[in-house]
Amino acid sequence: MTNPVNLRSTPKAIRSTIKNIAEIVSNSNYVVGMTGAGMSVESGIPPFRGADGLWTKYGTPHMNGYSDFKQDPSGWWKRRINEEIDSHIVELRDALNSAAPHAGHFALAKLEKQGNMQSLITQNIDALDEKAGITNLIEIHGNRTKLRCIDCGDRVSLGDFVPLYAPDACKKCDGIVKFDTVMFGEPIPYDVMKAARAEIDKADCVLAIGTSATVRPASGLFWIAKAAGANIIEINPSKTKLTSICAVSLHSTAGETLPRLVEALSN
Ligand code: APR
Repeated sequence: MTNPVNLRSTPKAIRSTIKNIAEIVSNSNYVVGMTGAGMSVESGIPPFRGADGLWTKYGTPHMNGYSDFKQDPSGWWKRRINEEIDSHIVELRDALNSAAPHAGHFALAKLEKQGNMQSLITQNIDALDEKAGITNLIEIHGNRTKLRCIDCGDRVSLGDFVPLYAPDACKKCDGIVKFDTVMFGEPIPYDVMKAARAEIDKADCVLAIGTSATVRPASGLFWIAKAAGANIIEINPSKTKLTSICAVSLHSTAGETLPRLVEALSN
């Protein structure tokens, strides 16, 4: 993906666009937020694509992570324990370990609390939305603080599990356990995809925040919402594949604009 054009809006343009977004949101019946890596950039976590993206820096990882894991789960854990992992994982993991929610995450929690956003679907695995207090949350690419059984789908928190050994088999069905984070080549767990689709089918407004909208099936949800007549509103300093189908595109950052959207909606 070529580097998206960074369009940073002028303060005047941001002010009037936020007003416009607030109007659409307050006139909507069911607003679903959908965030991507850009939502956590202001928490110090690098995005994947674009100028500062991990894939831009290290190249896109191979897409058969999940098939490697399924072929030989204990070998996969052994390689991970011996830190035979890609440098982008090390950089991402260090950023994730020290990240905290920023004003934008707390603003989304406020939008939910004041009834201006009914649910949030996040592509991020950083658990920052949960930490910020968002409750109706669908983590479509999983949550790095959880383990998941790939046979029955049971999820448990990492708790005191440290990946120095392969985790025990699933307590519920004796199945194979992996990190909840969805690997490349891994299908989105059925329960999560079903829940995300159900939210999108109810939405008449979708807030696309900090996502390049390039990775299916998550990104396909935007087009499904659009086809059903929902307003797509984008908050992203750069143009994306979504921009042309948006009712409004605000070229600014999540941390800067979401608190101002909360303010505009509480007046
Ligand atoms: N505020 C809002 N948006 C931002 C900010 C910011 N502060 N900084 C960057 N962005 C935008 C970028 O312009 C870009 O469009 O966030 C977007 C990040 O895009 P990606 O890195 O492609 O992230 P995402 O869309 O979440 O990728 C989807 O790809 O690699 C997989 O599993 C990974 O969940 C991820 C999926």
